[in-house]
Amino acid sequence: MEFLDLVPLTGARGRVRLPGSKSISNRVLLLAALAEGDTDIRDLLASDDVERMLDALRALGVHWTRRAGSDNYAVRGVGSAFPVKAAELFLGNAGTAFRPLTAALALCGGEYRLSGVPRMHERPIGDLVDALRQAGAAIDYLGNEGYPPLAIHPASVRAGGVLKVRGDVSSQFLTALLMALPLTGGETVIEVVGELISKPYIAITLALMERFGVAVRRDGWARFTVPAGARYRSPGTVYVEGDASSASYFLAAGAIGGGPVRVEGVGRDSIQGDVRFAEALAELGVRIDMGPNWIAARAPENGRLRAFDMDLNHIPDAAMTLAVAALFADGPCTLRNIASWRVKETDRIAAMATELRKVGATVEEGADYLKVAPPARLRVAAIDTYDDHRMAMCFSLVSLGGLRVRINDPKCVNKTFPTYFERFAEVAEAVPVLAIDGPSASGKGTVAARVARALGWHYLDSGSLYRLTALAGLRAGLALDDEPALAAIAAALPASFEDGRVWLDGTDVTDEIRSEACSAGASRVAALPAVRAALLDRQRDYRAAPGLVAEGRDMGSVVFPDAPLKVFLTATAEARASRRHKQLMEKGMAANMESLLDDLRERDARDAARSVAPLRRLPDAVLLDTTDMDVEQAVSFVLERAPVAS
Ligand code: DC
Repeated sequence: MEFLDLVPLTGARGRVRLPGSKSISNRVLLLAALAEGDTDIRDLLASDDVERMLDALRALGVHWTRRAGSDNYAVRGVGSAFPVKAAELFLGNAGTAFRPLTAALALCGGEYRLSGVPRMHERPIGDLVDALRQAGAAIDYLGNEGYPPLAIHPASVRAGGVLKVRGDVSSQFLTALLMALPLTGGETVIEVVGELISKPYIAITLALMERFGVAVRRDGWARFTVPAGARYRSPGTVYVEGDASSASYFLAAGAIGGGPVRVEGVGRDSIQGDVRFAEALAELGVRIDMGPNWIAARAPENGRLRAFDMDLNHIPDAAMTLAVAALFADGPCTLRNIASWRVKETDRIAAMATELRKVGATVEEGADYLKVAPPARLRVAAIDTYDDHRMAMCFSLVSLGGLRVRINDPKCVNKTFPTYFERFAEVAEAVPVLAIDGPSASGKGTVAARVARALGWHYLDSGSLYRLTALAGLRAGLALDDEPALAAIAAALPASFEDGRVWLDGTDVTDEIRSEACSAGASRVAALPAVRAALLDRQRDYRAAPGLVAEGRDMGSVVFPDAPLKVFLTATAEARASRRHKQLMEKGMAANMESLLDDLRERDARDAARSVAPLRRLPDAVLLDTTDMDVEQAVSFVLERAPVAS
């Protein structure tokens, strides 16, 4: 399973240019295809769902081109029904392509087959098919009754009249009918049966149809009239707004992580209902600023999100972001009227509940609601994403709790936002790490511990983990080249560090791990790749606010490659030998300069030649030669360059 580890964050700040709206992109593409004239579409979203629509339109005989190196497209409208009268379309998991194309093709007259990924075949479409059948369309289910895949046959479709459609499962059924009905030419009244959900998405549909010259008469949200003789005409150029649902992750990041985080591409003038996510955030105490084309979010005055109990029917997609934001609230939160989550990319109520529990929340799941009580302390977890882009994007916010979060199958964001994690990293402020390495007896351990104390940061002496692994291995009677057994020990090392003491399984082993046997043992187990891999996550989890000083061989290269400061601390072999000599003399031990120097040179050569994690200065490490420095000077040198924790 592919995964992405997001580093612990201390906050979020900055600006993000949003990708184009998925809802607008796929609607505009279909309207431009059906319209008379050419449409120049700017800033179209580049994502899987839009690709599915583009592929389908091409297969149906619509000519379109993409301007090289841009997200701008020219679409030559066909002016009425699609010219290709027989086609098989694969539409992935794109509901915004599947539903409207079903309606348009059913009213076009042709022989079509529409299918998608297995999950698409579990998402209901019966209400739409029922409505289309009332108009005379001939549609068969090729799998389960009420679900894709579908076969559409030529039929004599009635122009005008009254159609009834249910509005309480998915608003996309109504959107699909509205967009397709101008193909019939007659005046058609659509009556919505049941309470219409997700109304703002219908508002997007109506606004875009109007841009293309078709004004639908609306009586409340229960009755819509498509006028007789309605024809789509290209408005020339259409700019696709930024995606308001995608904006929710960044606004929430600003709300949780201090901010301000400013999103550009949506704002007060947006036609997307999800901009009302900003209002929902404001109810949590978040400070929101808004312009025509941008929104910015800052944390509440007192830093903590207020607990909430809200009806979120009007923003079903962005509401998922609130479920994860609830982890940072000052009390239990309730999300109500979200039953449509159950028929989306996955059963989002169940998925959300399961994953929120993994990070420590107490969650109550109802048919159409979710109650989330934040944990006292968030837990590191591997988040499953259920092939649902929004699960992946939502859970990136957990890293703002200052802990690592693993996102399984992160590529699922391609559905609507292929560059999501790059954009997120641009506003994310990672917990800073100061990585210190260098040859033995260079004094790096002393310097690192002193720097950590001065900064008030956490301290990781990674060498002690290898020493502990060796000790635990010896205690278990293992041979120190038994790689799988030692890796298993390393993965579950019952070790803890308290006030400068090191504990293994309840005993104080501070001195024992410094023994000659443990030093030699550590050097052997540290050469085993499986042991290094087993210790990797554990080392990364020392990274916690306000910062970490990490000392050891591969801190800057493997464990924390993104560390903003890496120091390679060294001194000439002579200087190191004479320091060690002095130490030994002070302890009243016999010592010989010549043999100390020989030992050090030999170890340097061995360390540098080692195939696994060899000792070397990284190109981006600052060189600190302490040959002519005392400890104070070395500590000051590092502190002067230390990254500032926000
Ligand atoms: O820094 P130290 O002497 O306590 O390290 C003990 C052993 O572990 C030594 O052989 C170097 C090795 N080590 C390593 O390979 N990678 C690290 N990150 C830290 C130590």
